[in-house]
Amino acid sequence: MAFPFPVLFIAVSLLSAFPPSCESYGHGSCIESERTALLSIKAGLFQNNNNNNNNNISWLSSWTGRDCCQWQGVACNQESGHVIKLNLRNPYLQYPYPDDYYFNMPPNDLRWLSGFTALRYLDLSYVNLSKVSGWLHDVNMLPSLRVLKLSDAQLQGGIHALTPAHLNFTALRVLDLTYNNFSATFPQWMFNLTSLEQLGLSSNGFHGSIPENIGRLRNLQYLDLSRNVISGEIPEAFGNLTLLQYFDASWGNTFSGKLLETTANLVHLQVLYLTRNGIVGQLPESIGKLSSLMELDLSENNISGTLPKTMGNLCNLQYLDLKRNFISGPIDDLLNGLSECFENKESNGLSELHLGENRLNGTVPESLSRLYKMEWLDLRANSLTGTLTELHFANLTDLQIMDFSYNMLQLNVTEDWVPPFNARGHERFNSDVFS
Ligand SMILES: *[C@@H]1O[C@H](CO)[C@@H](O)[C@H](O)[C@H]1NC(C)=O
Ligand SMILES: *[C@@H]1O[C@H](CO)[C@@H](O)[C@H](O)[C@H]1NC(C)=O
Ligand SMILES: *[C@@H]1O[C@H](CO)[C@@H](O)[C@H](O)[C@H]1NC(C)=O
Ligand SMILES: *[C@@H]1O[C@H](CO)[C@@H](O)[C@H](O)[C@H]1NC(C)=O
Ligand SMILES: *[C@@H]1O[C@H](CO)[C@@H](O)[C@H](O)[C@H]1NC(C)=O
Ligand SMILES: *[C@@H]1O[C@H](CO)[C@@H](O)[C@H](O)[C@H]1NC(C)=O
Ligand SMILES: *[C@@H]1O[C@H](CO)[C@@H](O)[C@H](O)[C@H]1NC(C)=O
Ligand SMILES: *[C@@H]1O[C@H](CO)[C@@H](O)[C@H](O)[C@H]1NC(C)=O
Ligand SMILES: *[C@@H]1O[C@H](CO)[C@@H](O)[C@H](O)[C@H]1NC(C)=O
Ligand SMILES: *[C@@H]1O[C@H](CO)[C@@H](O)[C@H](O)[C@H]1NC(C)=O
Repeated sequence: MAFPFPVLFIAVSLLSAFPPSCESYGHGSCIESERTALLSIKAGLFQNNNNNNNNNISWLSSWTGRDCCQWQGVACNQESGHVIKLNLRNPYLQYPYPDDYYFNMPPNDLRWLSGFTALRYLDLSYVNLSKVSGWLHDVNMLPSLRVLKLSDAQLQGGIHALTPAHLNFTALRVLDLTYNNFSATFPQWMFNLTSLEQLGLSSNGFHGSIPENIGRLRNLQYLDLSRNVISGEIPEAFGNLTLLQYFDASWGNTFSGKLLETTANLVHLQVLYLTRNGIVGQLPESIGKLSSLMELDLSENNISGTLPKTMGNLCNLQYLDLKRNFISGPIDDLLNGLSECFENKESNGLSELHLGENRLNGTVPESLSRLYKMEWLDLRANSLTGTLTELHFANLTDLQIMDFSYNMLQLNVTEDWVPPFNARGHERFNSDVFS
């Protein structure tokens, strides 16, 4: 199944904004002990990656001369001269990645980190740390750390065994551990990082349930738990994350239980993806309070009951996907409500609406035509009745894909009707839309 474009777009744009660092990293004069430490990192990287064309370490050639603060991937505090930023992520690595793209990183521990006492930003993404032991212990020696990125660093297991007696890096704001393979339950220490604003844990084999302790991360704005095997119910404490803007727990996970009323506290939520979980029950009326929502994907769950009338208040929605659930009842309130957002110019406009494979019934209201940003409309396999006329489509100039098949709908348009949307849409309209 293809990932819908707007979803991917927002996900990527948020990820690339992952460290919205407001500090300016100056170029002070370099501290000799830190320069020496950097040179031994460089020597190690050259020794271990020499024979591999894919591990392009040519950027390390800037690591010469006295002032290490000028080296690529390094930044210092202007006053103290201490290294505060170290980025060893291969700047030339671009998707699609070659087979063997990791830097191999000697020695087999990160003890050298303790030489950089003022470090605030550390990025070792795509560095092969599979043989590195005790990474958490070494990171714990960096109390100034604000940003830690270890995405796709071949880390495996051990995330519990490493728990330090005392957590020193509690000022951390960004933790990116995506694409490793911890295959574990969530470690408790993570929930002591109460300054965290962005937490990326996607694609790690995390299992078990989310602890109530998640509610302690009150500064969280971005949370990606997608592509793990997390189960259990979404904890009540989720409602404490009132600054959350982005929450993705789709794919692989098997959350069960209802979408709680406390979800309504998350008034800054712009993106909520719970695709393919085991959410049951009716959507809460309070969902209408999530007025910042731009993308909502609850497809492929077991949601039943009718669509809450309040959903028509979600005027910022651009992408709504509820397909493959057991939702029944009419769609009038939703479409009428969302089309009124347009009239009042409160909205950027719904461009994708996926309600296919539910149990929706009643007629399709003519207010559909006022959702004129619509590009993809999927109402297939419901129990919709009545007649679709030219009025339903009068303003849908951007429509590219639509699917009304497997309903009980009639189409009544004049023979010489010219649909407002483009030829491709016209074609689909005539051929497979009403099959
Ligand atoms: C490494 O990257 C640099 C800069 O993009 C490029 O000039 C050089 O040809 C690359 N070397 C290899 C072996 O790919
Ligand atoms: C990572 O390094 C280990 C040993 O240092 C090696 O066995 C493994 O193949 C490397 N992984 C990748 C993906 O390069
Ligand atoms: C960090 O915590 C450990 C205990 O886990 C302690 O031994 C160490 O001194 C602390 N280091 C710093 C730099 O605060
Ligand atoms: C985490 O916080 C709890 C409660 O404040 C405390 O009991 C525990 O020792 C902390 N754990 C670590 C690793 O700092
Ligand atoms: C992830 O770890 C598990 C168990 O630790 C292992 O069975 C599995 O092969 C690993 N997967 C990858 C992609 O390394
Ligand atoms: C969530 O907030 C409520 C109300 O402020 C508080 O009683 C509760 O302890 C919080 N839960 C967590 C896990 O922080
Ligand atoms: C969801 O519905 C499917 C198909 O009816 C069923 O097999 C599954 O057990 C249900 N899951 C839950 C969590 O209710
Ligand atoms: C829609 O289905 C419900 C039962 O699920 C039924 O009570 C209602 O009358 C139906 N409405 C229409 C317009 O067919
Ligand atoms: C079509 O959209 C325009 C704005 O682009 C609006 O002025 C007009 O009233 C709409 N017509 C219908 C039938 O919705
Ligand atoms: C189709 O629409 C025309 C004009 O609005 C109307 O006269 C006719 O009765 C309609 N036919 C059906 C089958 O609804």
